[in-house]
Amino acid sequence: MTPRNDLAALTSGRNFWSTEQQDGLPAITLTDGPHGVRMQASDSDMFSGRPATCFPPATATASTWDPDLLRRMGEALATEARSMDVSVLLGPGINIKRSPLGGRNFEYFSEDPLLTGTLAAAYVQGVQSRGVGTSLKHFAVNSQETDRMRVSAEVDERTLREIYLRAFQRVVEQAQPWTVMCSYNRINGVHASRNRWLLTDVLRGEWGFEGAVVSDWGAVVDRVDSIAAGLDLTMPGPDAAGDQRVADAAESGALDPGTLETAAARVRALIERAQDASGSVDVDHDAHHALAREIASRAIVLLKNDGLLPLEPGSGSIAVLGEIARTPRYQGGGSSQITPTRLDDALSAITAAAQGEVAFAPGYDADHASTEQTGADDGLLNEAVELARTHDIALVFVGNDPETEGMDRTTLALPEGHLALVERVRAVNENTVVVLSNGGVVLTSPWDTDVPAILETWLLGQAGGGAIADVLFGVVNPSGRLAETVPLRLEDHPSYLDFPGEHGVVRYGEGIHVGYRGFDARETDVSYPFGWGLSYTTFEYGDVTATVGEHGIDVTVPVTNTGDRDGREVVQIYVSAPDEDAHRVPRELAAFESVEIAAGATETVTLTVRRADLAYWDTRVSSWIVAPGEYVVAAAASSRDLRSVAIVSVTGDDVRLPLTAESTVTEWLDDPRGGDLLRAAIQDGDGPSVAQAMMGNPETAVFLSSVPLARMVAFGDGTLTPDVVARLVQDANG
Ligand code: BGC
Repeated sequence: MTPRNDLAALTSGRNFWSTEQQDGLPAITLTDGPHGVRMQASDSDMFSGRPATCFPPATATASTWDPDLLRRMGEALATEARSMDVSVLLGPGINIKRSPLGGRNFEYFSEDPLLTGTLAAAYVQGVQSRGVGTSLKHFAVNSQETDRMRVSAEVDERTLREIYLRAFQRVVEQAQPWTVMCSYNRINGVHASRNRWLLTDVLRGEWGFEGAVVSDWGAVVDRVDSIAAGLDLTMPGPDAAGDQRVADAAESGALDPGTLETAAARVRALIERAQDASGSVDVDHDAHHALAREIASRAIVLLKNDGLLPLEPGSGSIAVLGEIARTPRYQGGGSSQITPTRLDDALSAITAAAQGEVAFAPGYDADHASTEQTGADDGLLNEAVELARTHDIALVFVGNDPETEGMDRTTLALPEGHLALVERVRAVNENTVVVLSNGGVVLTSPWDTDVPAILETWLLGQAGGGAIADVLFGVVNPSGRLAETVPLRLEDHPSYLDFPGEHGVVRYGEGIHVGYRGFDARETDVSYPFGWGLSYTTFEYGDVTATVGEHGIDVTVPVTNTGDRDGREVVQIYVSAPDEDAHRVPRELAAFESVEIAAGATETVTLTVRRADLAYWDTRVSSWIVAPGEYVVAAAASSRDLRSVAIVSVTGDDVRLPLTAESTVTEWLDDPRGGDLLRAAIQDGDGPSVAQAMMGNPETAVFLSSVPLARMVAFGDGTLTPDVVARLVQDANG
């Protein structure tokens, strides 16, 4: 082994889950992630795992809008990781939910980068505070499963920066994850695993990432290219032939030997960092189960309630209908699938809490493997409808077909048999509560108009059953808020026309109009907007105030709990930016806080909208720019429920665009110096020039806004020549 071979060997895994072992350097284990520790238990079954707490997946934790819960979950995850000698947990997954059909949406947080980034940063801080590393994934633009290893996401740079990279930027800058995992897909033609712009220029150069870049499992096309682009560790291993190619390339100069040394040094630093936290720890599985239940109960979104909820224990007989009540859907399939330490079901928890008669019927085929299979089974359906008819309250548990990594969904509709159960039960019992279990959103239209109460419970992890009972019976006052819009129809969704692409290419045609940004820009009606969620109490907002402070806009708003139950409100701040300089969406989430407010009490919520979060990406200067002008700051209960609004004037960033021969005549005229120079130049000729004449006539002046100065030469009378234009450019920028 030459020293170069040793270095090369460090840049690939020793096996599926660990790094290379060398003299004085132990191997460390990296494993999934993100909502539990999936320590493979059997060599022959990749998806087997040692029992570990299955916390709620990101689709649920996002609905808590509470970074503190994510931090606590991270701490617990790290303790379990350490107990299994795991040094890096492969998560969080923070890709933006571009389409509700995204097959891994259950593992991702939101359609909004600020919410995603804030929660993910807290998760990373929680895990890493206990000496275990994280892997921020999948970097980047891995928002679909279709053709995921080859597809090229074609995204313009502004959209990339503002939507798809922004959460990554936030987490890197605020929490420095030990590793970032590059994604499988291509971005504008270049695989993430060999994208130098992404892995080096942006990630390290602009954001200051200090850790190691790890590949997604099997994402590397060419080891040498990848190392040159900024990838440090290729997983999984072993890859002796690849190591040799890397060593040879460094030997021949095809790969800069210094770059290889840097990559190996980063892997070494990762391994050394992990050593600080070695040593055994005890896990309190009961406490972690209780934490999983607390988080799950906070994740449930009360979509609708005509007063039926909460249920009073002992106040009537209950029919629990739907197999999901007995056999919970609590996580998705694929690499994040955890073997839970135990599993609560809603039926048992409801039976324990009800203090009265509880009857159960499965309602549809237990094997809800496909829409057809979950279709009408008249016997099961009739039995459930009969129970609904003879009981005071009907709780109907329905949900998606199982969702899994590797496959996008094809419909947002509930399976036929589940829909039939909702409709038939509602027809015989007006006290019907629908409890939804799904990773990605499901349509609730049109059946929701007839149903008095709906709980969106996502996939809640191993303690979800108890959490559902807690919310149904009011032990927990619901405070979950939607982290993604529920559309009326799939066809309304901004991504609809361009998902999932074809022939290896997907165009992100909606640009920055992702999720609520697109619905709001088009003023499209939705079933439930981003940020939506009800409570068993009510909240009133006082007047919001907004002032420019040291770090951005300081916002204060008093919120009063006007009901008779203690509760939590998620105060959301949306900002509408002036759009003279660049097109802006109607409003964007800019800050938020989940606040506990006792019945009758008022809490004054104080938040800061960071100046950086006001900025848009200006492609002319390749930079984040805060536009000058008046910003509308709204304190809101959802993106469509603005309660109080203030206007604040913000000083913008200086954007001085150099004047060039391609700048339009209007751009020249609008520039104080350029305008003077141009006016003087066109007056230099004998008599009025064509340019002067055009400028003087309102009908023709309009055309000048799209005519580059150099093109005026063609319309000219000799006043504006290429030489004059060249001199103007020089003088204007001199
Ligand atoms: C997934 C990653 C995961 C890795 C290791 C890949 O297929 O995309 O999210 O961490 O496998 O299991």
